[in-house]
Amino acid sequence: MTATRFDVVVIGAGPGGYVAAIRAAQLGLSVACIDRRDTLGGTCLNVGCIPSKALLHSSELYEEASHDFAQHGIKVEGVALDLRKMMARKDKVVGELTKGIAFLLRKNKVTFIQGSARITGAGAVEVTAPDGKGTPLACGSVVIATGSESTPLPGIEVDEQRIVTSTGALALAAVPAHLVVIGAGYIGLELGTAWRRLGAKVTVVEFLDRILPTMDGEVAREFQKILVRQGIVFRLGTKVTAAKARKGSVDLTLEAAAGGAAEALTCDAVLVAVGRRPFTDGLGLEELGITRDNRGRVTVNGRFETSVPGIYAIGDVIAGPMLAHKASDEGVIVAEVIAGQSGHIDYDLVPGVVYTAPEVASVGRTEEQLKADGVPYRVGRFPFAANARAKATGNTDGFVKVLAHAESNRVLGVHIIGPDAGTLIAEAALVMEFGGAAEDIARTSHAHPSLNEAVREAALAVGPGAIHI
Ligand code: FAD
Ligand code: NAI
Repeated sequence: MTATRFDVVVIGAGPGGYVAAIRAAQLGLSVACIDRRDTLGGTCLNVGCIPSKALLHSSELYEEASHDFAQHGIKVEGVALDLRKMMARKDKVVGELTKGIAFLLRKNKVTFIQGSARITGAGAVEVTAPDGKGTPLACGSVVIATGSESTPLPGIEVDEQRIVTSTGALALAAVPAHLVVIGAGYIGLELGTAWRRLGAKVTVVEFLDRILPTMDGEVAREFQKILVRQGIVFRLGTKVTAAKARKGSVDLTLEAAAGGAAEALTCDAVLVAVGRRPFTDGLGLEELGITRDNRGRVTVNGRFETSVPGIYAIGDVIAGPMLAHKASDEGVIVAEVIAGQSGHIDYDLVPGVVYTAPEVASVGRTEEQLKADGVPYRVGRFPFAANARAKATGNTDGFVKVLAHAESNRVLGVHIIGPDAGTLIAEAALVMEFGGAAEDIARTSHAHPSLNEAVREAALAVGPGAIHI
């Protein structure tokens, strides 16, 4: 069979792949985008960012209606959970957004082919459709954007019913009476909170002696206190050594991280959320001699080109934070590189957001990193309890922390725990992208009453001092 020819074949239609495909098409290249799924958007839209945020929001509304409206003088009686409807809404949101990506690909004349792709040589890709039919493609460049999968824990068999990954945890048929979450990272804390709000007792078992290991320590400690107040139980410095699903329950064996006596714990469901690993199965990387690092991530140079010329890789499958916007940023750059242009991403300035309530958001260096690197810095903090808007809405937990260079005043890191932290962090990222100083934030007019004023006050606190505290 003669191979259909494209300038670029992108393998994977997640936020890395579909963005690379659209940008390449905008730059005048003919593009095919391949995905095994019949819906577009990859992990992020189908089983990641979007369904989790839909469930987080619905569960937050349920909790507010159940417990918080009364403080506002709103009487609501008989609040009840309709989990099937909540899940159906989440699925509808996902359906609409994945169809939106299909529309965008059509609009940009990107050819979508459903099937599993295998790279058979430089400029040659074989796609096997779900019915087993093979289609050969020829191309100038290949972009690997195959993403990641949940990292398994040895000795624990996931059945996606009682012992689940995030995918199963986004689709439980009933609220578990007791959910044990293994891993106090992004997924464990987001989905743990969602199920707690819906009525589950949630115990989080974490190997390290702290939660959210990549975030600023002070913020993580404050976050843990808030989560404990909300009812989450933490078992830090602890590991799960075995999990056995029974009819209606799961038997767990726990042990101190450093080793010690085994402890038994029975619960109704277990969420394994100990990280994600790059997914490269069936791509043919070994045969092609494409190199990977010791964590299985495809290695690339500054142009996102792998060890084989003409084959590129982006997103979760390469090193760096496993975040949708990082994958998309790389997607734009790789398309521009293939089209003969150039692009740049500063990994220090990729924000991270945990979408709990309150949200946790971070960009740049943490205080621990600055100390370790011996960088002289000054800290400015401002609590949301002193912010008028937060007071008006009743969301006063948390604070903004600005870290600036002690001599130049340049902003090196901003860490926020509080209402809408995920939106507030964009201001910090932009200032840092321009190499701005804390004084630049402090001297910029901020609308009143707004949550952003807390960012300004924290920036003021780096220098002469905040006004409202
Ligand atoms: P993916 O989105 O994983 O896409 C890869 C695609 O490649 C998949 O659709 C797969 O089917 C396809 N594929 C793989 N191999 C082949 C093959 N051989 N042939 C054809 N197709 C193939 N990030 C955020 O920034 N914000 C969030 O709020 C957020 N929430 C998350 C919540 C959860 C529960 C999870 C699991 C992740 C979340 N993430 C979030 C992370 C985010 O989903 C990933 O960082 C992002 O999806 C990575 O994009 P990608 O394009 O590299 O890969
Ligand atoms: P994670 O890396 O965020 O957290 C994993 C946690 O598990 C860590 O705290 C780690 O110390 C702990 N851990 C590892 N092994 C363990 C063990 N054996 N026992 C107990 N604890 C153990 O990984 P997570 O939560 O699975 O999420 C994967 C990735 O997906 C995230 O790192 C993030 O990149 C992305 N994501 C992003 C979201 C967002 O942007 N809001 C939301 C969800 C996921």
